[in-house]
Amino acid sequence: MAVIPQIIAGNWKMNLTLSQGAEFIDILLSRLSGKELSRQLLLAPNFTLLSMLAQRCAGSGIALAAQNCAFQEAGAFTGETSVAMLKDAGAAYVLVGHSERRQIFGERDDLLRQKVRAVAGGGLRPIFCVGETLDQRQGGEAFEVVISQLRSGLVEFPNRQLIVAYEPVWAIGTGQTATPEDARSMHVHIRKFLEAQFPWGERVPILYGGSAKPENAAELLAQPEVNGLLVGGASLDPESFLQIALV
Ligand code: PGA
Repeated sequence: MAVIPQIIAGNWKMNLTLSQGAEFIDILLSRLSGKELSRQLLLAPNFTLLSMLAQRCAGSGIALAAQNCAFQEAGAFTGETSVAMLKDAGAAYVLVGHSERRQIFGERDDLLRQKVRAVAGGGLRPIFCVGETLDQRQGGEAFEVVISQLRSGLVEFPNRQLIVAYEPVWAIGTGQTATPEDARSMHVHIRKFLEAQFPWGERVPILYGGSAKPENAAELLAQPEVNGLLVGGASLDPESFLQIALV
């Protein structure tokens, strides 16, 4: 098993204004000052906060992710934001295929594949999110669903700049976390897929997301093939985000 440095990523979703985000980052940076972190920290704010955070985080080691992107490069696409614009604003990563995008905004596998390609083509790194619904899990289809999302989204992925996030839909924002065993067995499955698909598959970080919080982070991070966490609700407060980063 390859040693992969762990990543703690905060997905702010549609929360925090510019001033709230500035307050968050000032607290986080002051708490981190003088500390040696063994984990990579990553924040995924709204587009409107990216350049402010990029300026404040310069030199801190904290990287930024966008929560979405257009698949087109430029042009008449009102309301869309290109990968080049996100890069320009300071993002190094882009979340693609979050279940809220799939379920609320109807983003389907073929669109997500185009987005993944656009991110890689634009020199950023996709965090490709996959996960099954409660019905699918109860119907015994969890592995099949997740592997089919991966197969579809990552076909002919062009380089090794990739992160995968396993986020069981039933665990997102519900307070119901996957058990460490559930997370482990899915991550092992995902790893097998990545290794079979790509010569560099053993090095792709696989994050777990879904009600990750300070109380369960250590146990989740201790699982084999859990290379980090994608944290929603508990990333909105700098103290709880930091607790997770430091467990
Ligand atoms: P949650 O969200 O931690 O609030 O469950 C996780 C996510 O959607 O990335």
